[in-house]
Amino acid sequence: MTNFPKQIREWYFQHGRRLPWRDTKDPYKIWISEIILQQTRVDQGLQYFHRFIKAFPSVQSLARASETRLMQLWQGLGYYSRARNLHHAAQTIVNEHNATIPQTYEKINTLKGIGPYTAAAIASFAYNLPHAVVDGNVYRVLSRYFASDIPIDSSAGKKYFFSLANELLDKKDPATHNQAIMDLGALICKPTKPLCHQCPVSQHCAAFATGTQQDFPVKSKRTTRKKRHLNFLIIISDEHIVIEKRIGNDIWNGLFQFPVIESSEPFTVARISDHLKIKNKISSLKITKLLEKKHLLTHQELHSVFFKIDFPSEEDFRKWVNTTPFETIALNRINEIPFPQLIQQNLKKLLPPGES
Ligand code: ADE
Repeated sequence: MTNFPKQIREWYFQHGRRLPWRDTKDPYKIWISEIILQQTRVDQGLQYFHRFIKAFPSVQSLARASETRLMQLWQGLGYYSRARNLHHAAQTIVNEHNATIPQTYEKINTLKGIGPYTAAAIASFAYNLPHAVVDGNVYRVLSRYFASDIPIDSSAGKKYFFSLANELLDKKDPATHNQAIMDLGALICKPTKPLCHQCPVSQHCAAFATGTQQDFPVKSKRTTRKKRHLNFLIIISDEHIVIEKRIGNDIWNGLFQFPVIESSEPFTVARISDHLKIKNKISSLKITKLLEKKHLLTHQELHSVFFKIDFPSEEDFRKWVNTTPFETIALNRINEIPFPQLIQQNLKKLLPPGES
């Protein structure tokens, strides 16, 4: 057990990944990489990281960015509140910290969108301060190594693993230690089929000794997903399509979408037709179902159905659109619009050929 830091360090020097955010001590780049990596795997995160840093090379440029540009760069990563929090924190850093990322764990931890994990990552990677990172990889490595069955999603479990990780931390080189334990979790101590025969600490791993790797980490709760039915309306007239900016406090706030009717159960063409006729006093609409998609998020199961709506005439369409808060955009500019991934991925199937 006492050799744990030394063994993972030696392993990391031989087998750790060279990644652009590890070749720098720039806290801004480290911060951006950590927020991106909360959303995606390293291989996909790399492309986002390079594009983001190219567009916003400094905290000042991020603070000045428009929300639409930021959303375009974030598109596909999901959880858009993370991008908005980045923006907010960049503005705080510029306005209240003289455009310098704070240099203590406690101060970093006060920035919007930064919690104990990200604060420890920035404090250790950029400033080599002795704060252990505790992410999913670390929970897995430590719970297996010590065969600890305290649920990692309980407050007792969080406290326990936080203290354990900090006790084990190599205080002389926290940056390397933290990268090493995360890489060990990502490359060797994997969620399924861990590569124990390549593991530098398997000799002292309690789960390996008893063949119980798959029993750890222990969780108390099972995630349940809320079902939502989203009925999107594809309304095209005269080379223009109707879109709406999404407002409200959810993961897509600030992105655009097609007008949507949310329902608690699936909607048929007839239900859509009734809904539009009653709400908008429109008769003789032609409605066609184009596509259905199921999409799983951490806490939601989205059932999206896309309906094409044809108005009897351009005049009817204009009259209707003028009574709504919706916008129209020329079809040949649709690629400039930040949509949620759910819509972006299906644009080709939803629009007339050659328009996406
Ligand atoms: N996942 C989260 N942070 C990471 C990092 N710094 N390197 C590799 N994977 C990560």
